[in-house]
Amino acid sequence: MSLTSQVAKRRTFAIISHPDAGKTTITEQLLLFSGAIREAGTVKAKGKQSKKFAKSDWMEIEKQRGISVTSSVMQVDYDGYQVNILDTPGHEDFSEDTYRTLMAVDAAVMVVDSGKGIEPQTKKLFEVCSMRGIPIFTFMNKLDRDGREPLELVAELEEVLGIDAYPMNWPMGMGKNLLGLYDLYNNRVELRGLDGEEDSYIPLDEDGEAQGDHAFKQSSIYSQAMEDAQLLLEAGNAFDRELINRGKLTPVFFGSALTGFGVQTFFDAFVDLAPAPAAVEAEEEVVVQPTDERFTGFIFKIQANMNPAHRDRIAFVRICSGKFEQGMNVTLNRTKRTIRMAHTTQFMADTREEVQEAVAGDIIGLYDTGNLQIGDTLYTGNAGLQFKPLPQFTPELFMKVTPKNVMKQKSFHKGIEQLVQEGAIQLYKTYHTEEYIIGAVGQLQFEVFQYRLLHEYNAEVDMTPIGNKIARWIDEKDLNPNMSSSRNLLAKDRFGQPVFLFENAFAENWFKDKYPDIELKKLL
Ligand code: G4P
Repeated sequence: MSLTSQVAKRRTFAIISHPDAGKTTITEQLLLFSGAIREAGTVKAKGKQSKKFAKSDWMEIEKQRGISVTSSVMQVDYDGYQVNILDTPGHEDFSEDTYRTLMAVDAAVMVVDSGKGIEPQTKKLFEVCSMRGIPIFTFMNKLDRDGREPLELVAELEEVLGIDAYPMNWPMGMGKNLLGLYDLYNNRVELRGLDGEEDSYIPLDEDGEAQGDHAFKQSSIYSQAMEDAQLLLEAGNAFDRELINRGKLTPVFFGSALTGFGVQTFFDAFVDLAPAPAAVEAEEEVVVQPTDERFTGFIFKIQANMNPAHRDRIAFVRICSGKFEQGMNVTLNRTKRTIRMAHTTQFMADTREEVQEAVAGDIIGLYDTGNLQIGDTLYTGNAGLQFKPLPQFTPELFMKVTPKNVMKQKSFHKGIEQLVQEGAIQLYKTYHTEEYIIGAVGQLQFEVFQYRLLHEYNAEVDMTPIGNKIARWIDEKDLNPNMSSSRNLLAKDRFGQPVFLFENAFAENWFKDKYPDIELKKLL
C-alpha cells in the first residue's frame, strides 16, 4: 500500500473527559468492536485494580501492573482504519503529560456524562484542544440513565465551552424510557433492542418519519424527539465539515457506553469525519506534509522508570511524515547525533510489540537511556528540522523544595535541572531569596519528582506544599517593589521571567483593580 493511502487511513485521537464520565468504558467498546479484546471488563479491571493503590505507590504500581505505558497508546483496526487512541490520564494521574498528549493528536472525542454536563477537567482539556483548532466530537454518555434535557446539554456546550454544536442524532427518551435515537446524519431511527434483542435500524421517509408500521411510532417520546430534531435542523447550526475540521463546530452524538447503545454509530461517523494526519508546522516556516517520504517525528511524552533496575525510559514519538522502519537511523536535531531506532514498541490493548513499520499519524515508543527530551525532533535525511516547541501549561499546584542533606546539593541541583528539562515539573524561585518552588498541574507530578530525585539522583528532598495558586506572568519593566504581598508571591520562572503566584481569584482581581494598566499573562 502506498504511503498516501496508508496515511489516509490513520485516525489519531484522544478521549477527553472528566473522571467517571465513561472514557474507559467507551474505549473498551471500541476495542471490542475492533476485535482487539474479546470480553468487556478487560480494561476496566485494570483501571479498578490501579485505584486500589495509594497515590504514593504509583511507581510500584507501574512495575507491578506494567500497563501504564501499554494503555497510554493503543492502535486498533476499526473498519479498515488504523485508529490510534492516546490516553489522557485523569484522577490522580493528571499531569502536564495529559495536556502534552493533546499536542500529538489530530482530533479529540469529548465524553460528557449527560447527567452532569460539562465538568471542570473536561473544560480544561477542551481548551487545549480548542487552542490547537483540532476537531472535537462530543459523545453525550449514560443515556440509559435519566439525565439532563438534551437541549440543555447542547446549549451548555455553546455557553460553557463557546463551541457551536451540531446534533448528529437525538435521543428518543432516556433512562428506562429510552426508545432509541432519531438519527439525522444517517437518516434513520436506531431502535434500542429490548430484552436482549439486537438494536434495529429503520430508515426515514422524505417527511422524516420512520418508514413502516411500528408500535413505537404511537409514542409521544418518538414524536417529541422527531419534533425537536426537526426544529434543530431548521433553527440550529448547519452541518459544516469545514467548521468541524477547524474545531469550531462539534458534532454531538448521544448514547450509552455501558450498554453499547449508539457507540458504533458514533465511531462509524467518527472515522468517517475525523481527519487523517495533517501537515505539521516546524521552525523557519517549514511545513511537513504527512505524505513526505522523509521520516520526521517529535517526542511529546517520556515515561520514565518503567524498570528502575535498567533505568529505561520510553519516549513517545508522534510520526509526522514518512515511514518508520525497524532499525533505521535518524538524526536528533538538538544534538545532531545519529540514533538507531532499534528498540521501539507499539501498543496494543494488552501487549507491547516490537514495531516493524509505522507511518505518519502513528505513535511509537522508543527506548531511551536518557538522551531524549520532550519536544525533540527526529528525522532522516540531511536537512535539519525542528518542530515548534510544545507549549508550557500554567501550573496550579506549588511546593517549596529543599534538599534534606546539604552535602548533596550538587545532585539535588543536577536532578532538578534534568527533570525540569525533561518537562516532568516546572521550576520557579522566589524572586529575591531564590528559594526553590516547583509547579505542576497535577499532584502526581510531585510524587514522581520526589521519587525520581531520590532513585535516580540520590537526592532526598523536603517538600512543603504552598497549595493552589494562580500563576500570572508580568513584564519585568512593569514590576515595582510594592506589588508583592503575602497574597501574591513574586517568583521568577526558570528563564528569569517574573511571575506572581496569586492566592486565589480574589487576590488576582484585587491586583488587576489596583494596577489596571498592567498586563498579567498566563501560559496555556
Ligand atoms: P472514566 O474512565 O471516564 O473515569 O469512566 P469509566 O468508564 O470508568 O466509567 C465510570 C463509571 O460510569 C463506571 O461505573 C461505569 O460503569 C459507568 N458508566 C460508564 N458509561 C456508562 C453508561 O453509559 N451508563 C451508565 N449507567 N454508567 C456508565 P462504576 O460504578 O465506577 O464502575 P462499575 O462498577 O459499574 O464497573
